[in-house]
Amino acid sequence: VYGGESTLPAVTANTHWLGSVCVLCGRDHPPQHRGFVCSGCGPDGILDPYYDYAQLAAADPRALFGEATAGGMWRFAPLLPVRPTAAHGAWTLGDTPVHRADRLAAHLGLKELLLKDDTCLPSGSLKDRAAAVAIAHARSVGARQLACASTGNAAASLAVLGARAGSAVTIYVPASAPRPKLAQLVLHGARVITVDGTYDQAFDLSLAAIAENGWYSRNCAHNSLLAEGKKTAGFELAARLTAGFTRAEDTLPDVVFVSVGDGCIVSATGKAFAELETLGLIGKVPRIIGVQAAGASPLATAWAAHANPAGLVDGAAIMAAIRTAPVRTIADSICVGVPRNRVKAWRRVAASGGAFISVDDAAITAAVGLMARLAGVFAEPSAAAALAGVPVALQSGLISRGDRVAVLVTGHGLKDPEAGLQGVSLPDPIPPAADRN
Ligand SMILES: Cc1ncc(COP(=O)(O)O)c(C=O)c1O
Ligand SMILES: [Zn+2]
Repeated sequence: VYGGESTLPAVTANTHWLGSVCVLCGRDHPPQHRGFVCSGCGPDGILDPYYDYAQLAAADPRALFGEATAGGMWRFAPLLPVRPTAAHGAWTLGDTPVHRADRLAAHLGLKELLLKDDTCLPSGSLKDRAAAVAIAHARSVGARQLACASTGNAAASLAVLGARAGSAVTIYVPASAPRPKLAQLVLHGARVITVDGTYDQAFDLSLAAIAENGWYSRNCAHNSLLAEGKKTAGFELAARLTAGFTRAEDTLPDVVFVSVGDGCIVSATGKAFAELETLGLIGKVPRIIGVQAAGASPLATAWAAHANPAGLVDGAAIMAAIRTAPVRTIADSICVGVPRNRVKAWRRVAASGGAFISVDDAAITAAVGLMARLAGVFAEPSAAAALAGVPVALQSGLISRGDRVAVLVTGHGLKDPEAGLQGVSLPDPIPPAADRN
């Protein structure tokens, strides 16, 4: 039984968190830094937290990640910026299942396919991992008002967990977001500002309001502490497959497919595996394949256009390589024209030996149906996009049939059932038994 809003447990800083460096200029900021971004570069100067890896590597992993005072994903608190002192419904979540999807693997011609199923989280998307860190960090700095812009899911996660914490939540969301996501916001009591425009415009509006009102920013691309929470999906996957880092790394996936909007999840996934490798807990980092919708694919387009994308590491050069264009896709959560976390995303994907690719809306809709029918997992289009990337990567030779493939399933299909039903006809009703004679 978790405590109520009146008894939100204390949250302490993680003493292993040493600071955060700017992705553009490399300037180091101490954990006490209160601006969300680099003090020199402004909003594009997204920070990247780092930890005392040498000290953490010296510890026994079972002791390091064994004790979870706050439960769930907080098992990995040594690699997160804050540490709640007790479990609470506002932040205790995670340990989602990994399904071995044999029929789906056979259908796609793969030896092995694993689905990391984050549809089971409280608001139905992986974003709860970031919102949990937001609620915990806001608690630790005494912030009571939280805000974000969102294509829908980040906002839903903040609304759900904010309601459990008793926090005041303000959301900027495109008016075009699917109704089930808007319902989550309104019913969980958030103050909802629908923007008659794109997510990119909602994001800019939210930044201005956050600065003006001194609210706590749950914008994941902007507040780098939140993307740290998203690492826990990768940590859990690695820990599960290696039985708590006790088994050889040949149980790890060779490739992980991740849907990409702002680029936070894909970079957090790359970082999760890279940190585990730095700590000597795993022997390899899987190739990370970032999948965008063809109608919103600035990263995939730039990746394909560049002669040597993996060689591009300078922040300003990555920014310059990525052009924005008008966006349109059925996958509303990844309908993003300006991926705010593009530098981190590009670098992490490049460092893993992976790539960015794109998939069209028809392939995304087909992937929703395939995953539902052959694996029993109902994903929203933006989550199914990652699966839709698998045949594309097979065809282009990015992956081979013998690779062990994992897909992050980032959002529940019930968040946008109409999209999944495109091209599907529901059965006509039959008369009730009494009327049949
Ligand atoms: C279901 C789902 N998948 C993937 C993404 C992409 O995440 P990111 O914006 O971190 O790239 C989102 C973002 O809204 C999402 O809601
Ligand atoms: Zn900077």
